[in-house]
Amino acid sequence: MTNKSANKMWGGRFEMSPDELMVRINASIGFDRVLAPQDIRGSKAHAAMLAETGIISKSDAREIAKGLDQIAVEIAEGKFKFSEALEDIHMNVESRLTELIGPAAGRLHTARSRNDQVALDFRMYVRDAASSFDLALGELQRTLAQKALEHAHVIMPGFTHLQPAQPVTFGHHLLAYVEMFGRDRGRFADARKRMNECPLGAAALAGTSFPIDRSETAKALGFERPTANSLDSVADRDFALEVLAAATISATHLSRLSEEIVIWMTPQFGFVKLSDKWTTGSSIMPQKRNPDAAELCRAKVARIAAAFQGLTMVMKGLPLTYSKDMQEDKETTFDALENYSVAVAAMTGMISDLEPMPERMRAAAGSGYSTATDLADWLVRTLKMPFREAHHVTGSIVRQAEQRGLELSELPLEAMQAEEKRITKDVFTVLSVENSVKSRKSHGGTAPQNVTKMAKSWLRRLEKGRSSG
Ligand code: ARG
Repeated sequence: MTNKSANKMWGGRFEMSPDELMVRINASIGFDRVLAPQDIRGSKAHAAMLAETGIISKSDAREIAKGLDQIAVEIAEGKFKFSEALEDIHMNVESRLTELIGPAAGRLHTARSRNDQVALDFRMYVRDAASSFDLALGELQRTLAQKALEHAHVIMPGFTHLQPAQPVTFGHHLLAYVEMFGRDRGRFADARKRMNECPLGAAALAGTSFPIDRSETAKALGFERPTANSLDSVADRDFALEVLAAATISATHLSRLSEEIVIWMTPQFGFVKLSDKWTTGSSIMPQKRNPDAAELCRAKVARIAAAFQGLTMVMKGLPLTYSKDMQEDKETTFDALENYSVAVAAMTGMISDLEPMPERMRAAAGSGYSTATDLADWLVRTLKMPFREAHHVTGSIVRQAEQRGLELSELPLEAMQAEEKRITKDVFTVLSVENSVKSRKSHGGTAPQNVTKMAKSWLRRLEKGRSSG
């Protein structure tokens, strides 16, 4: 006699009920319940195909569809009772379906296994995430490009080693991130394209003897085609790894931009302001305005990279095909993708709120001898000096300026001529930061006219929904 308390989905040959801890370690319902919409959508497509191919009756398929719709409503309204004893979302839904429609529910699992079912549900979840990231990043790019256009002429110091290097424009700096987020969109799009094959119908691992139509379910669920190999279909999670990898890379971009906002907001820099909407105060220091949102966006990469690393560790060394190890694919992936999405949205909000302080930026751009390269270039261009020699002469002039506590543009001509007698007053035309940025008209350079053109071109492309090219 079968033990009545054994699992009713697979307990036929079991005499004892599972240990309490077995139930606990085995259950995924605590986190895979978010797959309910995908599970129900997949089951409806499967049932419709089973009826279409004559594997089950049309009336059973109708009952199944009706029952599944009701379950979707119960879940959406928070009335569904999830049970840990039923392990996962697949068995929770099927068990409720049995309560609702009786024996017809038992026909839904014909020519299917939880192995292809979970591969399908998880893939659709990750696919939806990749699509939503594309839209969200497009919005972030648009916000950045709009800001860049508004501030194409605002001069700020460009940095290397976080030391003032050469003056650039704020718009140019923002457009650098538009490029990065454009490549991130490309990575999500590539991953989405590769994952867009339907594993449903691979069944447990070997396919099925039923005359199913896998192209029909693939099409009904928005896939390009069915997967080609049943073993691969249930065994791999590379689609999730790819999206996590793309999210990790993108989160490093978010993190760097966040770090810059944090730095720019310090009173020492004072380059930008964020309103009350994106900052918090201190409970003890009344003067504080803290960039918490930026700090959190800076940190989110940690859990996203950890999820990528974690899933890599779960998958490595697993023999084909499915192993229960793979149930560990979901919780951290859900968390990482959810947090990535919040970070992109928060960054979009911050950028739109961000107000540059042009005087502070301009003052900082003029300090630190940031036009020294322009002076060296002038020596090369006007005196036909080899660049290495020009570099050396400029270095001596910078030392002169430093000793006198002056900016390069304030240094008397005679002081420069002491280092190189052929220097004329024409040199002053290149020593201002305005002329410095204006002169950098090379392809991809920081000249305000370039930046304006680029920002407009991005806004046009983004209007058409394109991420690049
Ligand atoms: N909850 C399982 C998972 O997430 C579903 C697949 C279970 N398949 C099995 N043969 N035990 O991986």
